[in-house]
Amino acid sequence: VSLRQFNTFGLESRAQFFEEAESTEALTDIIKNPALKEIPKFILGGGSNVLFTQNINALVIKIAIKGIELIKEDQDYVWLHVGAGEKWHDFVMYCVDHNYAGVENLSLIPGTIGAAPMQNIGAYGVEIKDVVETVEAISIETAEMRTFSKEECLFGYRESIFKHALKGKLIITGVVFRLNKKPVYHVEYGDIQKTLAEMNVETPTIKAISEAVIRIRESKLPDPAKIGNAGSFFKNPEISTSQFDRLKSDFPNLPGYPTTPGFIKVPAGWLIEQAGWKGYREGEIGVHARQALVLVNYGGGSGAEIKALSEKIQKSVQDKFGVSLSAEVNFV
Ligand code: EPU
Repeated sequence: VSLRQFNTFGLESRAQFFEEAESTEALTDIIKNPALKEIPKFILGGGSNVLFTQNINALVIKIAIKGIELIKEDQDYVWLHVGAGEKWHDFVMYCVDHNYAGVENLSLIPGTIGAAPMQNIGAYGVEIKDVVETVEAISIETAEMRTFSKEECLFGYRESIFKHALKGKLIITGVVFRLNKKPVYHVEYGDIQKTLAEMNVETPTIKAISEAVIRIRESKLPDPAKIGNAGSFFKNPEISTSQFDRLKSDFPNLPGYPTTPGFIKVPAGWLIEQAGWKGYREGEIGVHARQALVLVNYGGGSGAEIKALSEKIQKSVQDKFGVSLSAEVNFV
């Protein structure tokens, strides 16, 4: 089975076996099937954060569990249970339409609900850890169900327990979100303020923020339906304040945002642009011209070529700034 249509980079890769699970029961049946017991399993969500560098000698299970359900409500909040196979952005639009606040800053992020907690997706001052109540998962080994509280997920910047201690062991089947009926807006990002002003919005609303985020993303980030990509390819590195100060004296325009005490997060996009890669093209692959953090596949590129390009970029940023970039995308 070709996986080309199942990854936003649009890379060709073949799965030895392929199954789509539309319910938790169907998924349990696949896991418990004795004929499939010995075959390694690879779980696929929206395919928006993977780089296939070869064929997959495994049973690829595409999670297609659907449904958005209101399970609890009080004066201030609603709790929604969402199937892992729902598209993230469809869920955001559902919340915007119902005036539930909390995910409007996360509009237009590709991928599925089930993949979102893996790397604690985030944008414009909000991360999903701010709205997750619980994550439901099933064991690939035993088909046992387990519910994780938000704390047990060990969320960090593009991190969670699902990417580390429990990597490859679980399948996320659903997420419960707690959303606000009384909105608390996050508009501190310069880009958001600028865009709201351009839209002549004086008092923010859930819908206006969502629209502003969609405008910003459409202006910077390539649409995966047109140009293959997986969003930010690298994480923004955190460097020590002393290293930041040294770099700043050589590169006075270096941007930086304090995070944990003693550390400064610097935009990888800036480092990559300054190293001369923005808009770089090599055959069918390259670096996006409007956001240097995004690697792109114009059509016929391969995962191996993109991997090789990413390594060249890492080396050049290391040589110029002494900063090491780590990939945000998962190599398969
Ligand atoms: N910049 C450049 N050149 C570039 C790109 C960025 O100089 O080509 C500098 C500019 O100084 C700009 C700053 O980087 O002000 C920040 O750029 P941007 O707002 O585009 O955000 P980012 O730090 O590059 C992160 C996330 C994005 C998220 C945005 C907005 C990571 C790895 N990426 O990107 O997430 O949408 O912030 O919050 O943290 C993703 O994870 O796939 C993703 C797109």
